[in-house]
Amino acid sequence: MTKEEFTFETRLLHNQHKMDPVTGAVSVPIQHASTFHQFDVDQFGKYDYARSLNPTREALEDVIAELEGGVKGFAFSSGMAAISTAFLLLSAGDHVVITEDVYGGTFRMVTEVLSRFGVEHTFVDMTELEQVKQAIRPNTKAFYVETPSNPLLKVTDIRAISNLAKEIGALTFVDNTFLTPALQRPLELGADVVLHSATKFLSGHSDVVAGLAVVNNEELAKRLGFLQNSFGAILGVQDAWLVLRGLKTLSVRLEHSQKAALKIADFLQSHPLIENVYYPGLTDHPHYQLQHVQAQGAGAVLSFELKSEAALREFVSGVKIPVFAVSLGAVESILSYPAKMSHAAMPQVEREKRGIKNSLLRLSVGLENPDDLIKDFSRSLDQLGRNELVLQQGES
Ligand SMILES: Cc1ncc(COP(=O)(O)O)c(C=O)c1O
Repeated sequence: MTKEEFTFETRLLHNQHKMDPVTGAVSVPIQHASTFHQFDVDQFGKYDYARSLNPTREALEDVIAELEGGVKGFAFSSGMAAISTAFLLLSAGDHVVITEDVYGGTFRMVTEVLSRFGVEHTFVDMTELEQVKQAIRPNTKAFYVETPSNPLLKVTDIRAISNLAKEIGALTFVDNTFLTPALQRPLELGADVVLHSATKFLSGHSDVVAGLAVVNNEELAKRLGFLQNSFGAILGVQDAWLVLRGLKTLSVRLEHSQKAALKIADFLQSHPLIENVYYPGLTDHPHYQLQHVQAQGAGAVLSFELKSEAALREFVSGVKIPVFAVSLGAVESILSYPAKMSHAAMPQVEREKRGIKNSLLRLSVGLENPDDLIKDFSRSLDQLGRNELVLQQGES
């Protein structure tokens, strides 16, 4: 059986870095050296200075490129470093069409930093192809997609956007943080650059901040490699090793968490105190079909709305199991409040325009037994119901 025949799960373990060729070690060695001795004045070896290339970081870059089906991978000190460096592929006077409910940090980068350097942007609902077409200008050089989007889990047709981009000679960037290559491989659908906050599912244990990018051709590989070295926001070797270790269990973690997410989404949807549930694994999600055509599942993140911000506050205070925190994609379930966390960088008017209400919570499902989570949520909601009843009786 050749390596090319291995399924994704097997390739997570049996890839080109399954063992160290020198010692046979089954874990990639952590090479701390910042500089490398050169044995010849005229001809330097493959490694000279660790910002440019380091064997531990390189192993992670090779593995992510292989898993995403790309030509070359790049590891950065955070997801935002990966995203910001990829944006440096653009120049002053260029225009980017970007998904409207994009991650708050990306919103901040585009609106408050790139704009100062003359890179223009238009936010659109990328699920509406007509809106995307109308946003195109003569200087449009990139489309920026996040799918499923954060926090409303809207699904964008990656193939359709990539085709549109190709027609006008623009690039397609896809933030694949929510699904990872275990469930969605944007380069196979025509995208040019895949971006990750590897802080999330790829590493999976809430113990590292990291970013990755993968490109689909040699020319982009050269350009992004040049920018990675020039800007210098590279990933440190300990952190690269942590991501490599986390990757080995990616499939089993996601399989459990995805199944649990569906069970929890079903529970929340049937609960009278929950106004809306956003999860593309629910058959009545408006993009259910598209999600299951372009990806192998709906992932392990869902969002839901309570009746009011006050109800949200009571619900959160009654919940015991998930950590209430920024971030997602970890072994422990994480309950987040987008308005004050992931999307705090977005002004309230902008959030409201995008439907990100102050009564919205996002849940990243971890490895707990989903029945325990459901019991925990159910108790908190019961308490909320009792409190509301007391309040109503007091008023009447
Ligand atoms: C979808 C998405 N993209 C990018 C980022 C930024 O990644 P990092 O926090 O690793 O810089 C995040 C962080 O939450 C995210 O959720």
